[in-house]
Amino acid sequence: MSSTTPDRQRLFFALWPDAALQETIDNRAHKLIGKRAKRVSAHNLHITLAFLGPVLRGQRNCYEQAAIGIQAQTFSLSLQRIGHWPLPRILWLGPSQQPEALLTLVQNLNAALLTCGFSPETRPYQAHMTLARKVDWPLPVRDIEPIDWEVDSFVLVESVTAPAGPCYQVLERWSLQHNT
Ligand code: 2AM
Repeated sequence: MSSTTPDRQRLFFALWPDAALQETIDNRAHKLIGKRAKRVSAHNLHITLAFLGPVLRGQRNCYEQAAIGIQAQTFSLSLQRIGHWPLPRILWLGPSQQPEALLTLVQNLNAALLTCGFSPETRPYQAHMTLARKVDWPLPVRDIEPIDWEVDSFVLVESVTAPAGPCYQVLERWSLQHNT
């Protein structure tokens, strides 16, 4: 059932690679996974920062205002680990270490979103990019040749459920502060 209704949009904040990097990651995923699982399309590859879920359209402005006030620095992300989580049944790509600036960004975002009635995730944040869903075969966590990403912005995304699967649309983008 779609969570997008006339009065609600399914939203999340994310790190969004540019098209060239999405292509690079998709090529690597193809080499690693092949046809053993249905991969997330290249143009949908991302790392979620905070999942808002179906929110009232009138509330979107509150979330955007919260994002405008975020103070966080740019950072380098080295995607060099892949693994499988059996419960959400996903294959993921992520960093072996989460940069401090990324954790600060997530923390600041969660804190700012409280004013909009957002209930932050209680589990520790684990940055990951879902490469494939509905995967039931085990894949031991392992390191791969790193894919480097200079992260200089974060985005607000709408998830629309289409017959072919979820389709993500970037709605807004905010820059991170460069180190001086
Ligand atoms: P996932 O890739 O690990 O499934 C859009 O659904 C994005 O929000 C996905 O990246 C998804 O993470 C993330 N997300 C986080 N919590 C979610 C939830 N409770 N339901 C659906 N998606 C969630």
